[in-house]
Amino acid sequence: QNPNQAPIAILDSGVGGLSIAQCIKQQLPYENLLYVADTLYAPYGDKSAAFIQQRLNEIAQWCITRDAKALVVACNTATVNAIDQLRQQVSLPVIGVEPAIKPATKISKNNKVAILVTKATAANQRFLNLVAQYRDSCQVSIQPCPGLVELIEQNKQDTAECRALLSGYLRPLMAAGVDTLVLGCTHYPLIMSLIKEVCGNELNIMETARPVTAQLQRQLTHYQLLNDSNKLGTSRFYSSKFNKEQQALFNHILPEPVQLHSFP
Ligand code: SIN
Repeated sequence: QNPNQAPIAILDSGVGGLSIAQCIKQQLPYENLLYVADTLYAPYGDKSAAFIQQRLNEIAQWCITRDAKALVVACNTATVNAIDQLRQQVSLPVIGVEPAIKPATKISKNNKVAILVTKATAANQRFLNLVAQYRDSCQVSIQPCPGLVELIEQNKQDTAECRALLSGYLRPLMAAGVDTLVLGCTHYPLIMSLIKEVCGNELNIMETARPVTAQLQRQLTHYQLLNDSNKLGTSRFYSSKFNKEQQALFNHILPEPVQLHSFP
C-alpha cells in the first residue's frame, strides 16, 4: 500500500477526541482516519501516569499493525502524562493536544483566564510548567472538573445533572470576572452549547482542534506523508468497550451515523 494513503490514528480515552477527528476530517478531507476510544478504561483523568502510558503503548502498537502513518493523541490527560514516553516507543510522528493558553492570554481584555481540565491534568507538572511559561501577566485559574467526562461518556451531556455540575465549576469563575475560558480537555467542546448557556456569549472560549490539525498538517507535509489521493478519505471507529450504548453515543455526537468496531 502507498504509505501516504495509510490512516492517521486518533487516540482518546473515549469520545472526546471526536472533537479533534471532526476538525481533521474537515481540514484534511483526503486523509483516512482510524479512531480508537479506550472507553473500557475511561476516564483517564483519575488514572496514574504509568497506567495511561501502558494503555497508550498498547493502542499505538495496534494502530501500527493497521499501518497508521501518524498518531494523534487527542486527549489532554494522555498528552501530558504519556506523550514523551510514547515518542520514545514508536518511530512515526506523534502529535499531542495542548491547551490554548498563549492565545487566551492575548485575547483576554482584563487578563483573567481560566482553564478547565481533568484532575490528572491539573496535578501534572508538565501542564503546570506550560501554564507558568505562557501565563504572561494574566491571572490564570486552573479548574479541575471531575465528573464531566464521565457524564459525556454516559451520553448524559444534555441532562440537568450535567448542567448543574458544569454550573458549579463555571459560576465562581464568572463571578471572579474571567473573560476567557480555555478548554483543556477534548471532551469539553462536546458540551460547548451548555458552556455558552451557563456563561453567556460574551466569554471567549479557546479550544484546540484547529491548532492540533494545523500541527498535524505541518508534520505530514514535513515527512511527505500527506495523502495525494483525490478521493475523499474514509474513517473507521473502534472502542475497547464495544456495545449498543457506545454505538448510540458515537452516533449522537457525529453528524452522520457510523459503524463502531471492537478494539482490539
Ligand atoms: C479523561 O479521559 O479523563 C479526559 C481526557 C482529556 O483530558 O482530554
